Amino acid sequence: MIVCVCRRVSDREISRHARAGMSFDDIQFELGVATQCGQCEGCARDIVAQCSSTAPVALLRAQDAGADGRAWPPLPSAA
Ligand code: FES
Repeated sequence: MIVCVCRRVSDREISRHARAGMSFDDIQFELGVATQCGQCEGCARDIVAQCSSTAPVALLRAQDAGADGRAWPPLPSAA
């Protein structure tokens, strides 16, 4: 999903940078998000906060859910 229309920055780009340890200011400088009209700043900051290294692992895994929508890999079957 495009978060910043002015700079065509997606939520995936923002979260990828945040998971790499970049702060909102770093991401803003790198991607240009929230540098024009500013309408996207709140949403972009929320994404960075959710993906920062201090966020619980479960939250990060939920955002990395596979294409099938599952947040967790399937359990091995008990044979
Ligand atoms: S929508 Fe991001 S600066 Fe305008």
